[in-house]
Amino acid sequence: MTATGTVAPLEVAPLEVTDLTTTFVSRNRRTAVVRGVSFTLQRGETLMLLGESGSGKSVTARSIMQLYGSAAELAGSVRMNGAEMLGLTESQLQSVRGGQIALVPQDPTGALDPLRRIGSQLTEVLAVHGIERTRRAGRRRAEELLAMVGIPDPKRVADSYPHELSGGMRQRAVIAIAVSCDPQVLIADEPTTALDVTVQAQILELIGELQQRLGTAVLMVTHDVGVAGDFGGRIGVMYAGRLVEEGPAAQVLAAPRHPYTAGLLESLPTPGIERGRLRSIVGAPPAVGAFPAGCAFAPRCPRARASCHDEDPPLLAAGPDRSAACPVANPAGSRQAVA
Ligand SMILES: Nc1ncnc2c1ncn2[C@@H]1O[C@H](COP(=O)(O)OP(=O)(O)OP(=O)(O)O)[C@@H](O)[C@H]1O
Ligand code: SF4
Ligand SMILES: [Mg+2]
Repeated sequence: MTATGTVAPLEVAPLEVTDLTTTFVSRNRRTAVVRGVSFTLQRGETLMLLGESGSGKSVTARSIMQLYGSAAELAGSVRMNGAEMLGLTESQLQSVRGGQIALVPQDPTGALDPLRRIGSQLTEVLAVHGIERTRRAGRRRAEELLAMVGIPDPKRVADSYPHELSGGMRQRAVIAIAVSCDPQVLIADEPTTALDVTVQAQILELIGELQQRLGTAVLMVTHDVGVAGDFGGRIGVMYAGRLVEEGPAAQVLAAPRHPYTAGLLESLPTPGIERGRLRSIVGAPPAVGAFPAGCAFAPRCPRARASCHDEDPPLLAAGPDRSAACPVANPAGSRQAVA
């Protein structure tokens, strides 16, 4: 399950998610939004989580970071370097977050304190995680980090408040904070949606460069098939809170195994991998809390058969290094459960 081919086979994976389930709880309602998601991210590897709006990509990302507190029940397992993260106390989590695992959210504005200068926000993160304890060393490192993420005048930006920067510069500053403690896992939730197209390309290039340089494993959320194709690595396709297909990006995009993935690619404006927003297939995805019995894609699936409405297929091997949650996707003899 490696994207780059540079991974030592016996290395403990930086991130291993097994059967992750997120159920939002309110006074009179329980809603399972993420339903048994499993994947492994090796050092330096990228997994692009791809899916339509509402499929559970952000909730998966935020559940891995355990950002919901008592609003959600998490089940399954999230292991970092083999150590279980689910069940850690909030103070234990605070040292993991930003240190071993960091999140770049969709909107850079919400990730920055509007009342504090960028340099001071960076030096605080460095101090909290014990990287640079003195003000002077912290400031020097902050400027280095801002330069590393392609900010041409790091001194000025370090002295600026977030509102004094463009959207692209703010997102670079957020990325500088995210990578400041050299995290082993970087989660980027649609990191470019708020930006214009040219800046989007620059930010994606930057994340790719940092990944190469630092060996960071990257989980990137997108609903843009073009972004998923350009970035390479692996793709995990989500539908109705489940991972329905996973494999090397080039293979998944060239020859999708799951009927939902095939439908997504067919619905692109022109054949092949075109940059664009995903368009719906016939019908609409089910609403959360109203997932149908059996395969959630069955009401829209051109290949559905009677049993699809009763049985929700697990993610199974569907060829070497690939998996899919659909019996028609799995060649006979490879029905071995994944994760
Ligand atoms: N805090 C919450 N409480 C209850 N339901 C939530 C919460 N956050 C998200 N949801 C629901 O979970 C579902 C999945 O949401 P999520 O944000 O993960 O979708 P997404 O795949 O990231 O979509 P998008 O591409 O639009 O960002 C949605 O139906 C959403 O309404
Ligand atoms: S399990 Fe059945 S309904 Fe679901 S994707 Fe496969 S063929 Fe279609
Ligand atoms: Mg989202």
